[in-house]
Amino acid sequence: MTEPPQTAEPSPPSGAAPAPGPAPGVTADGGPSPQAPAAVRRRAVLAGTAVSVLLILAIVFGSRLLRDFDSALLPYAVATVFLAFGVAYRYTVWISAPGARRLFRQGWRSFFSAANFRRAPTALPRMIATYLGFQKFLGARSHARWAAHQLLFWGCLLAAAITFPLTWGWFTFTSATGSGPGYEMRIWGFEIIGFDALGFLGWLMFHGLDIAAVLVIAGAAYFLWRRMKDRGAITGQRFAYDLVPLIALVVISVTGLLLTFSSIFLHGGGYQFLAVLHMVSVVFTLIYIPFGKFFHIVQRPAAVGMQLFKYTSRRTGEGEGEVLVCRRCHEPIDTAPYVANLRGTMRDLDLGFDEWAEYCPRCKRVLRGAAYLDHVKKGFK
Ligand code: HEM
Repeated sequence: MTEPPQTAEPSPPSGAAPAPGPAPGVTADGGPSPQAPAAVRRRAVLAGTAVSVLLILAIVFGSRLLRDFDSALLPYAVATVFLAFGVAYRYTVWISAPGARRLFRQGWRSFFSAANFRRAPTALPRMIATYLGFQKFLGARSHARWAAHQLLFWGCLLAAAITFPLTWGWFTFTSATGSGPGYEMRIWGFEIIGFDALGFLGWLMFHGLDIAAVLVIAGAAYFLWRRMKDRGAITGQRFAYDLVPLIALVVISVTGLLLTFSSIFLHGGGYQFLAVLHMVSVVFTLIYIPFGKFFHIVQRPAAVGMQLFKYTSRRTGEGEGEVLVCRRCHEPIDTAPYVANLRGTMRDLDLGFDEWAEYCPRCKRVLRGAAYLDHVKKGFK
């Protein structure tokens, strides 16, 4: 086997993950660069428009032709339509990049593969739970980061599950007496559950958002604290990308809690002002989601298919599951189909060093160091 030329090239990408790299016209984080091809932009605008129109139709029909739509929540509903446009737009641009497109295609192929299902029927639900739901891989970075992220994740999920359908007029709470304590919860006009507002279920129903806010404040506060203390984090962080999302989550949650505080303890004092502040922070955050760090919420599910691909190709019995060993130290790297897929991505991106995918990360570093000694240090007088 030949070894790649030992030059002092920049570090080859690690063989550990098929990093979806940027295509011409697409930046590394999936955003369109100023030269994003017009065809990609057109496709992205079409996808964004289609998804927004579908959401508007779902709002109109889901709220029984706006009969259940609360006009006080209009700004939130409009923000979700912009959010839908932004997510579909950016997602389309993202999967138009060769690396991400391969990840996306391979992921869906694994997802719908009957052979995969026969080989490992429980693999997909397990991966959805452990990777997407519990983000177990974060525990390897630190238990505290994992716990804080779980608080953010479940807090935001709970808040979204309550507020999005309410905003769209899909949920209604009605009382036969007009003022409780007996309430009925309806979805799309169908009665789902009746409850007593003064009972435990009633308390949970009306304070779900407060619970979500407490979870989110705890998670975001840890990450903010870490970003002020951890030298590694401080060195690389950018205000708009790393701090704004955390500050936005804290502002939304604190103003939300203050609304409850105002209605319980201040007889509604300051409520109007807080309601506007809360609404403005939510609307801006929703519109910002597709364009900043929060976009990982939409990107990450695509990686489940790739995890499944890695897992099933490891378990396959027909020679395919062969594990490739490092060309230099002969330690296992990953399965042959996985490394082949990584090399394919690198070739799609015109990276002229895809052979490096067949070395383990440690050997890549050793070879780079040796190349540096050979080519740079010697000539340095
Ligand atoms: C409601 C859904 C989610 C929310 C609100 C959320 C929010 C956040 C926020 C605010 C951060 C930034 C923390 C910081 O850098 O200081 C973060 C980081 C991160 N998120 Fe999420 N996230 C969500 C879902 C997910 C999912 C589904 C995954 C993966 C399966 C994921 C993976 C990550 C990773 C890997 C980091 C970096 C963590 C670290 O540096 O320790 N997130 N998330």
